[in-house]
This record gives sequence, C-alpha cells and structure tokens, in this order.
Amino acid sequence: MSVESKDILSPELIEDSNSYWADLRAHDPVHWDAAQRAWLLTRYDDVVDGFMDPRLSSDRIRPLLEILPPERRERLGPMLEVMGDWLSVTDAPVHTRLRKLANNAFRGQQIARMAEWMSQLVDELIDDFIASGSTDFIEGIASPLPATVVARMMGAPASDGPLFRKWSDELALVAFSAGDKAAPDRYTRALTSVGEMQDYLRDLIDKRKTDPRDDMISALMTPTADGDVLTEAELLSMCTLILFAGHETTTNLLCNFLVILEREPHVRGQLLTEPSLINTAIEEVLRYEAPIKVIVRWVAESHERGGKTLNAGDRAYLVLHSANRDESIFENADTFDIRRPTQPSHIAFGRGAHACLGAQLARIEARIALPKIFERLPGLRVTDNICWKPLIAARAVTALHVEYDSRETTA
Ligand code: HEM
Repeated sequence: MSVESKDILSPELIEDSNSYWADLRAHDPVHWDAAQRAWLLTRYDDVVDGFMDPRLSSDRIRPLLEILPPERRERLGPMLEVMGDWLSVTDAPVHTRLRKLANNAFRGQQIARMAEWMSQLVDELIDDFIASGSTDFIEGIASPLPATVVARMMGAPASDGPLFRKWSDELALVAFSAGDKAAPDRYTRALTSVGEMQDYLRDLIDKRKTDPRDDMISALMTPTADGDVLTEAELLSMCTLILFAGHETTTNLLCNFLVILEREPHVRGQLLTEPSLINTAIEEVLRYEAPIKVIVRWVAESHERGGKTLNAGDRAYLVLHSANRDESIFENADTFDIRRPTQPSHIAFGRGAHACLGAQLARIEARIALPKIFERLPGLRVTDNICWKPLIAARAVTALHVEYDSRETTA
C-alpha cells in the first residue's frame, strides 16, 4: 500500500510529524516523496541498514554541484566547494583515511580534564546570564557554551568563542537549508564567514607548527603511526566541519531538553528527587526530540528496498525522528520516559562509518551543563510559545526565553 505524501515543511508537520511517520512506518515504510525528490526511509531497521549500505552514498555535494544550472552554480558553487571537502560528505576510501586522522584527534582529547574547565565555563556563562538579567537562553547559554568548548578544544582562547559562534551560525544558514526567503544572501554570508575562519585557523596552525600544544589542532597535525598526515587544506576543512558539526547540534540538544521539561512537567520532579537520572534523561531527549531529524544520502547504485526500486541518482532521507519512534523497537515509543533502558539505542548520532565523532563530547557538555542550570536557575520555565524552525534536517526552536526564581539563584 502506498500513503499519500504530505508536505514535510508544512507548519503542521514542522510542529509535529510523528503521526505521519507512524503512518509511513506502518503502510509505506520506503516512501517516494515527489516534492522532495527523495525516498523517505522511516523504519528503524531500514534506517540502520541505510547507514551501513555503501549503495547509499554520503558523497552528496559534488553530484549536486554537477547538476546545478550555471546561474545557480555561480551563486552556490564556491560555498558548496568548501563543504564538498568535508569528511562527512565523502565515501570510502577517502572517508576511511580522513576519519582515521580525525579519530586520532578526538581520542587525544582527555575528556576528564576537559570536564573541569567545561564546568567552570558553564558557571561563568550562568553568572553572566544572571548578572545581565537576560531571558534569552539560546543567546546566553545554549549557543555560547558549545562554541566556546570547540574554540578551546581547537586551541583558540576561550574569549574567541563568540567568533566561532558567529562563523558557525552563518554556515548553518547553508548547511541546514534556511531557504532563500529566510536568508536570501546566505551563500555569500556563509562564504565570508568561512573565509574569515580559515584566515584565523591558518594563523593558529602556523603557531602550532613551531609550538605544538595539547589541543585538537596540534593533534590533527600529528601524523598517524603509518606516517599519514592531513594537508593544510584538509586540516582547514576538518576544523570547519568540527566547528559546525559540534555547535548547532549541541545547542539544540540543550534547548530541546528544556522544551521537553516544559511539556512533561513530571520529569522535573523526577530529576529533583533522583538527579542521577540526568544521563538517561539526556539519552531519552536524544531519542524523543533528536537535534537532527533527517540525514541525506544519494543512491549511488540502483537497488530494491522495501519492495521499491531506488534508482541511481535518487535521494534517500534517513528519517532519524521516525526510527527513534519505531514501536517495533521502542516500547511505548511516544512516551517520554527517562527510565527507559538505553538499549536498544536511539539513532540520534547515526551509525556506521559516519557515526558522530563528537557524541561523547556532546553528552559530556549536556551532563555538565544541565544539572548546573537547574541548580543555579531554580524554577526555570520556558516563557515562549514553542515554534520550530522550518528545516528538514534540524530540530531547532526559533527562540527560547526563560524565567526563573531570581531571588533563589545561587552564586
Ligand atoms: C547532540 C549533538 C550532536 C548530534 C545529535 C550529532 C549528530 C550527528 C549525526 C547524526 C552524524 C552522522 C552524519 C551522517 O551519517 O552523515 C554526525 C556526524 C558527525 N558529527 Fe555529530 N552530532 C552532535 C554533536 C557533535 C559534536 C559536539 C561534534 C564535534 C565537536 C560532532 C562532530 C561530528 C562529525 C565530525 C561528524 C562526521 C563524521 C563522519 O562523517 O565520519 N558532532 N553527528
């Protein structure tokens, strides 16, 4: 049976697409969406299989560049060229090599030591938030935190966090398809930001050549045991990706946590009486309202899937939000339950060769920040009517203002 397509960018589905995903999972799990020109893979097993199947290629920027009409290519081309070098949009064997070099750097980070300064950073951000009287949770905490963490990890001074944040925000306009209406000049803005960022990083790389430190840039410049090393262009591309991949997603995890607390008030009580549930609560937010909704792949080789023929050149959307609510995998999948067993695991960080490199880092940021936020901003409540950005890939609120009992804030 086939199900009639719905507009996944319509206001109703941007607000909540769960009943559409459930319908597709039940009746048309590999569904052709003509408007998106993409196959929607909605069952957990199909999404996992899609992540593992080399016929679904991650090399999705270069084919796009090739089919763009000349006038669009002129406008979009330079920015897409930059993104086309990212590790996340390559296939084996190019990906295997870059991933090995990147793994090196992520392993090199000593999470326990990072936890100490992260904790200090969260305190500083909360101090400033309280002192400023601001109510804007994104501006004050959720966005500067991951930007500053990435800046520090790279080896830049924490005071340059705002620069990293600005670059990442501008890049997000392109990478998360803000649409021409929202930001008509988004390609030019993103390109300017990438240029500024690369100049900044070149400077940092030059310094580390003669004065290597215990930071990510130095680790990324270190040859592997078999003598392989990133070229300077590859290094710049890797840093741009890491900054971008590590910022917006983590901001959205923190925001989505607050949104769920607002919608499921009993969870606040559960966390107050049993603070140790914070880790499973974070995993449950990653399942229930994951920061990334959809991962795109290109069909590199025609094949059958779920009784349908996927032709080479089609697109496939791996719908993480649907897989995470698949009731054949998760009991009472539509119930938010912070005591849910962590196995079977949600799929918010992807699977297979491209699985998220920063998953541990994102978890640690959230595990450190959220308890401090609840402790130091007692009675924290969201005051906005929640609106979600009209994006295919990301689950992100448009704004998140909060109030708290300021008489009880802790220094
Ligand atoms: C809650 C936060 C995060 C979420 C939900 C998330 C989600 C994901 C997902 C779903 C993928 C797979 C993409 C694919 O298969 O095409 C991915 C890849 C990636 N993530 Fe994350 N991520 C998060 C945080 C981070 C952080 C903090 C960093 C680094 C500082 C990071 C760096 C990366 C990189 C470099 C890749 C590409 C890996 C590859 O292609 O081999 N992510 N992430």
